[in-house]
Amino acid sequence: MLDARGSRGAIARAYGLAAPLYGLWSTLFEERAIQRGLALASVRKGERILEVAVGPGAALAKLHREAGPAGLVVGIDIAPGMLRAARRRVPDAALALADARALPFRGGAFDMVWSSYFLDLIPTCELTPLLKEFCRVLRPDGRLLLVDLSKKGKGKIWWERFYSISPGFLIPYVFGGCRPIHAAQFVRDAGFVLIQQEIVSQGMVSEILLVRKAA
Ligand SMILES: C[S@@+](CC[C@H](N)C(=O)[O-])C[C@H]1O[C@@H](n2cnc3c(N)ncnc32)[C@H](O)[C@@H]1O
Repeated sequence: MLDARGSRGAIARAYGLAAPLYGLWSTLFEERAIQRGLALASVRKGERILEVAVGPGAALAKLHREAGPAGLVVGIDIAPGMLRAARRRVPDAALALADARALPFRGGAFDMVWSSYFLDLIPTCELTPLLKEFCRVLRPDGRLLLVDLSKKGKGKIWWERFYSISPGFLIPYVFGGCRPIHAAQFVRDAGFVLIQQEIVSQGMVSEILLVRKAA
């Protein structure tokens, strides 16, 4: 698996700039996987859900609707521009500027954590610690739904070829820092149990994982 490139500051700046246009990218290449992820997540009324790296709120809006007024849906992101876009989309959502690596919530606070198109921009050596942080804020038996850029087979795809030859400073702006990943081994290493794994194609290939924290 190719490693991610791009400093945290450059990633936050790049996504702040991309916020007005990200919805279009998401509709063209990610909508189908997000919809499938939502179906697998099976959100129930009244659930407490954390969306990590909420972006402009495409999934947040649906999670918010599904959890209903008795539920709680909280979105965090590192880019203020993305949080403003999410606020416009879901005016009454709970949103916070925070880094996913140190979530500002007590242990066991959520029934579900949702994270789409985020792990794919995280350096490989940080994936397991990050997933352990997701695990910490989940209640026992809580579930984690991941959707990420991925690929079929082992060969390098065109995205990876361009990613590996591009200068590092351009990676956050051209690729959003993202490269295709296979997250299953990392979720197991973080102590989760893999429940379901699916691949969805829509111009790009996305991997969906539904996993559970041990009871
Ligand atoms: C590719 S976008 C995905 C947005 C959204 N999850 C979606 O599916 O449309 C990646 C998001 O991760 C956010 N992000 C990047 N690094 C982060 C970090 N360390 N903590 C929290 N958010 C981060 C970016 O600001 C951006 O909004």
